[in-house]
Amino acid sequence: MQEFKEESPILLFDSGVGGLSVLAEVRKLLPDAPVIYAADNAGLPYGGKSEAEIAARVCGLLGRMAERFHPRLICIACNTASTIALGMVREVLQIPIVGTVPAIKPAAAMTRSGVIGLLGTEATIRQTYVDRLEAEFAADKRLLRFAAPELVMAAEAKLRGQSVDPAVYANAARGLRLQPGGEAIDTVVLACTHFPLVEAELAAAFGAGVSFVHGAAGIARRIFHLTEGQSFHRVSPDCALFTRKDDAVTKLLPALERHGLNRVAVL
Ligand code: DGL
Repeated sequence: MQEFKEESPILLFDSGVGGLSVLAEVRKLLPDAPVIYAADNAGLPYGGKSEAEIAARVCGLLGRMAERFHPRLICIACNTASTIALGMVREVLQIPIVGTVPAIKPAAAMTRSGVIGLLGTEATIRQTYVDRLEAEFAADKRLLRFAAPELVMAAEAKLRGQSVDPAVYANAARGLRLQPGGEAIDTVVLACTHFPLVEAELAAAFGAGVSFVHGAAGIARRIFHLTEGQSFHRVSPDCALFTRKDDAVTKLLPALERHGLNRVAVL
């Protein structure tokens, strides 16, 4: 393991703003922890890319960031990147790496109807990682999956302060409801870190009687546990790091500031 100092940051990584849903939970448990929030906006969205491309981007970027910023811990705050590249990143970096995996286990414990919906990116829903979680925790349930990439862009737009056509949320709900058994869904796994950012809109689209579950609070608890006993000292404002500077970044500044990210940099 590498040496770190009290100013060493926790680095959260996503393709875009989705990881802010995880950061919000981390802030509750570790308000004094210096944070770098890294968004590979030049690669956004990940969900339509191949496994090879996602693995190469994530491993390459996290390697560069680890070398440059010496984080004490990295959280891959992205289901797509985690379900594909978590093992590879852990093999190459000598610091704790926390991943984000679809919350199928808690959903299986919550459902009363036995029918669970799962919304994720195209890349996430086809992963064998998800098959394994289903087999392990929801073998006696029915798990219906639907890829909703437009929800990623809806969350990005919402955080830029732009309006989103409500049809986007209705389509996601319909994509699950119209599958055989879908009318009985009472629990929906938000298997993309962008989706909790539009949970209220999704709740309106699904209607009453549906609960949503995602991993953000659990991930924050894991980070808290792995850094227990460590001291933190923030020497400069927490930073949002992008892989490309563009107009969209400027529009995100208010949302970044609401998450305590008062500085922007480009890798
Ligand atoms: N936030 C990401 C996830 O959790 C991916 C969104 C995307 O880039 O497609 O899957």
